[in-house]
Amino acid sequence: MDSFEINKIIGALLGTVFVVFSITLVSDALFAAHPPANPGYIIEAEEEGHGAGPAEEEEVVSIATLLQDADPAAGEAAFRKCQACHTAEQGGANKVGPNLWGIVNRAIAGHEGFSYSAGMRAYAEEAGTWDYENLNAFLLSPKGTVSGTAMAFAGLRKDDERADIIAYLRTLADSPAPLPEPPAAETEAAEAPAEGEAAPAD
Ligand code: HEC
Repeated sequence: MDSFEINKIIGALLGTVFVVFSITLVSDALFAAHPPANPGYIIEAEEEGHGAGPAEEEEVVSIATLLQDADPAAGEAAFRKCQACHTAEQGGANKVGPNLWGIVNRAIAGHEGFSYSAGMRAYAEEAGTWDYENLNAFLLSPKGTVSGTAMAFAGLRKDDERADIIAYLRTLADSPAPLPEPPAAETEAAEAPAEGEAAPAD
């Protein structure tokens, strides 16, 4: 091996070292982890007014009024939503929720053999029985009406559907409870249509 050859080998080695070194420098520069000044994303969510706000402004129609036009047959069909957890027939089993035979005017948390939540038992102390008002409030908003209730159900927001179901629940009895009297003011309004308006057909 002459000195020329040794020079070539050393040259090649130095060249390789140089290339490897440059690649390391460049890739370090490219992939260096710069810690961000503000770690993470800041997501600014605006609290919007919908929810409790406008709902309060909505006109609340009393259950007594709603029941005047309610349809128990439609309510029976809609009751399918409840059947995952409730039976309706006399002597029916308790499932996730208690059997609902005779629920209108039944004592709250009063069905034997069912283990009610503490929240429901407290509500029973305060409200007593499932009259139309209490049923209406509970089915509109189970958790809003009975805090701590074990009934995992969002509620029936639609007035007519809720009234239909309550009208159906009323039929689950040997002698159904009387329907509530419609409020006097609303009866007058319904019976005396404004001038120029056609009277109701029925
Ligand atoms: C996911 C299961 C589930 C669904 C769906 C459900 N419920 Fe319930 N319901 C329960 C449970 C559990 C309770 C007992 C609540 C407690 O102890 O807090 C209950 C309690 C009740 C009560 C009070 C009973 C009593 O003896 O005091 C009524 C009335 C009622 N439900 C009606 C309905 C109606 C009507 C529907 C359908 C619109 C419905 N539930 C849908 C689980 C359910």
